[in-house]
Parts: sequence; structure tokens; C-alpha cells
Amino acid sequence: MIFGRVKPLDAILATAEKKSLHRSLGAFQLTMLGIGAVIGTGIFVLTATAAQKAGPGMMVSFMVAGFVCAVAALCYSELASMVPVAGSAYTYSYAVMGELVAWLVGWALILEYALGASAVAVGWSGHIIGLLDSLGLHLPHAITVGPKISVGGFLEGGEVGGIFNLPAVLIVAFVTWLLVIGTKESATVNAVLVAIKISALTLFVVVTLPLALGHSEHFTPFVPRGWGNPLSSAGTGVLGAAASIFFAYVGFDAVSTAAEETRDPQRNVPIGLIASLLICTIFYLLVAGSAIGSFGAQPLIDPATGKYFVEGSPELYASAACHSAGAPLVCSKEALAYVLRQVSSPALGNLVGLAATIALPSVVLLMMYGQTRVFFVMARDGLLPGSLAAVHPRFRTPWVVTIVTGIAAAIAAAFLPVSQLADYSNSGTLFAFAAVSLGVMILRFTDRTRHRPFRTPALFVVAPLSIIGCIVLFLSLGYQSKMLFIVWTLLGLVLYYVYGYRHSNVARGVIEVDDDPDMSAEPAA
Ligand code: ALA
Repeated sequence: MIFGRVKPLDAILATAEKKSLHRSLGAFQLTMLGIGAVIGTGIFVLTATAAQKAGPGMMVSFMVAGFVCAVAALCYSELASMVPVAGSAYTYSYAVMGELVAWLVGWALILEYALGASAVAVGWSGHIIGLLDSLGLHLPHAITVGPKISVGGFLEGGEVGGIFNLPAVLIVAFVTWLLVIGTKESATVNAVLVAIKISALTLFVVVTLPLALGHSEHFTPFVPRGWGNPLSSAGTGVLGAAASIFFAYVGFDAVSTAAEETRDPQRNVPIGLIASLLICTIFYLLVAGSAIGSFGAQPLIDPATGKYFVEGSPELYASAACHSAGAPLVCSKEALAYVLRQVSSPALGNLVGLAATIALPSVVLLMMYGQTRVFFVMARDGLLPGSLAAVHPRFRTPWVVTIVTGIAAAIAAAFLPVSQLADYSNSGTLFAFAAVSLGVMILRFTDRTRHRPFRTPALFVVAPLSIIGCIVLFLSLGYQSKMLFIVWTLLGLVLYYVYGYRHSNVARGVIEVDDDPDMSAEPAA
């Protein structure tokens, strides 16, 4: 068998049946769950990163990233409706492509979720620092950013004079504590946070779009750094920005992992996935266009070298331009709030900053929750030590795995800039998306007769497009992110052969395992 050990689909479905979770979520709640998980640091912060990589051409980047996510979401939907169980890409891969691929996907999802949580935490930090600044409370620079680091050109970041990012560490610690004591975001809280985020983006567009209309000059040059070249290591241009801004769309798979608690998942999961992506894409395009038009979004050149600064680099933040009044968008760590303060009023900017400050912790929570879920399912399958999935006697939560996740996310958030964390996270996500897209095609051949409540339209066009899109975006990431992914994957392979290969339940002939009830439910009610 080319793919080695496969976990039978029927066994996965039987496990899900046994759990008999309360199916309470409908299409509307799923769409809200999707928007709640998707809108976050990507649009509120990484707009500045995208501007430094692509200038006004980032509008095309938003479209490219949205398109890749849309075709991937269509593939996710077929599997999510067929296999409405926990574990998302990891579980699907186990059923279709076998244990090794599943392990690598699960391993890549650690990048997506744990480093994704760090990225959002750093985005949150930028906003709380901005808000405190506007109140006249200036935190010492040393405890707001990581130190300037450069490890052989492989790992670079931080800022001159920084020690660590205290606010980012604090928010990760807070979210870890919430998860350990068993806090799950309720659908009601999620709905309120979605309303806050949508209102903030709407406010931004309503105020800045009219200003943008009179400034067509802000759109030229449209692609100052070109369209990008996936075969180069630069990771810039429109494609480079798309590879980074892809982060703004990540999270819609939270919808497919909630399939077990969804009423009529066959119908509602695809609706939730596609509706949430569509709504986010429309908002992102409006926001990006308004920001470019009203304030401008040209990338900054280092006068010393005559070359463009690396986005989010210590040199960029230390530059004279970034310390001047009315500094360019690319210098900001709270892009949308900053633009509003500049083109409208500080009060409106602070309002948008406040909305992000209130809403971003829930994105951190969803990402860390997703991480504990993937760890849990991997441990349940015997690929990770069972002790990792230990359940707290009082809180009934997987506290060990939660604390491990929290410590890892906090360390990354303490020292690395948001743009780098987001790119690392994207590398893992793109791998998982490509695996799902491949899996759904394979399953059409290997399991022809199984009922497919949702069939991806034109699958043999859509899935290859998704795979090609993921590969192009992956290659368009910067050198460091690609290297980190390769090193991470090699490490994963070693771990698999040292541990998982021998301990896996499938290898030992164990198919059905009991679930801990507390770990099965996605937030409901
Ligand atoms: N898409 C989420 C964000 O932008 C992860 O923060």
C-alpha cells in the first residue's frame, strides 16, 4: 500500500457516533464561528507587512490569498461533510493518505495553530501598546519588543533595545489559564466579538473610503516591488505579500472542526465555510483599498543601502522615516488604527484599536484551543505520548497539553515579530491545505461509493488549483520561513520514526478508543 497505515474511515465515523455530541450549531452560527476565527491580526496588523512587500499591489495579494483559501475551503467542505469529526486536516489525512502523511499534517498544524496564536498575541500587543500610548502611558521599549536577533541570516527579528514582548506573553498566559480552567468561547460571546470586529472594519471603510476616492495618486506605482517570484528567496512583491496576508484568512477550518456539533453538517458546514470566507474577503478588499487610497501604502527604502527594508525588521523600525511625524503605514504595528488616527481623528483610531484589543484574544483562544484539539487527537491515536492528553481532575481539561502549548506560544511571541510568526504559521497551514486538497481527490477513487453530502464542484479543477496555489504561496514566502518549515518537517519525521511509528494505535491493531467528553465539544450555546 503506497500510503502505509490508513485509519479506516468507518472506524473514524464510528468513534464520532459513539461520542454522540449535542448537535447544536446551524449555518448562521458556523458562519459566525468562521468570521470570529478569521478576522484578526491579519487585517488589523499585517496590512503594514503586506504594504512593505507589495505597496498598493497588496490589493491583488488579498485577492490571490482569498482565492487560494476559497478553493481549499471547497475541498475542506467535501471532507468535512463526509467525515464530520474532530481533528480537521489531520484526521482527514489519516483516513485517506495514511499515518505518515497524517503525522506530518498534524505536525505542520502545530506551526499553524501554536505560532498562529503567537502572531495574534503580538498583534494584540501592538494594539494595547498603542492604546496605552494614546493615554499617555508609555511602556518601556525594552519590554514591548524582542531583542534584535540574527542567527546566521536564518532567524532575524526583534528591535534595537528590546528584551521581550511582555504584553504578548501576558495575553498568551491569560488565554492559557482560561483554557486550563475550561473556558470555551460561547456562541454568544463569539457573536458579540464578531459584531465588534465587523463594526470596526465598517467604521474604517466608512471614514476612509470617501477620502480614498480623491487620491488615485496613492495607487501609483501600483506594484513598486513587482509581482513577486516564487523561485526567488526574497519573498516580496505581490505574491510575497499574498503569502503573508494569507494569514488573514486562516481560521476558517475552525468551522470544519466544529462539524461534530453541527446540525445537518452536510449542508451547514460548506455554507459556513464559504460564507465566512466570502464575507471576510469583501471586507478585506474594502479595507485595504481604503487604507491605500486615504493614506498611501508605499514600501520604504533604506536610504543607507538604497534597497527596500525587510518588512518588520529592526532596521525598518529604527529608521528615521519611522520616527517622523506621519510615518508611513509600513512602520505601524496597528495598521488600521494608525491610518484612522492619521487621516481622521485620534478618537476614531483609538476606537478601532480598542475593538482589536477586545477581539483579538478570542482569536488567540481559538488557535490555542485548535492546537490542544490536534494534540489530543494525535495522542488519542497513539502518535504522541498519552500523558500529554492527561485530563485535569477538577477542570476536566487537557491541562498538560494546554500548558505546553502556552509555554511554546509565549516564548515565540516574546521574541519574534508578528510578520515572521505569521509567515511561519502560514508555511504549516499551506502544507495542511495542500494535503487536504490531494486527499479529497484520492478519496474520489478509493472510496467511490461513499455518500458525499457535499461534492466539491469541478473537483479535478478546484483541487489542483488549490494545490498549485498552496505551493506557489509557500514558495513565495521568505527564505527563513521555507527553511524553518523544512527543518520542522525533518524533526517531525525523526520523531515519528522514534516514537509514533511504534506506538500508534493503528500499528498495534487498536482502532476504537474512548474519548474524553470535555475534549470533544467545540464551543456551543
Ligand atoms: N486569520 C486570523 C488573523 O488574522 C488568524 O488573526
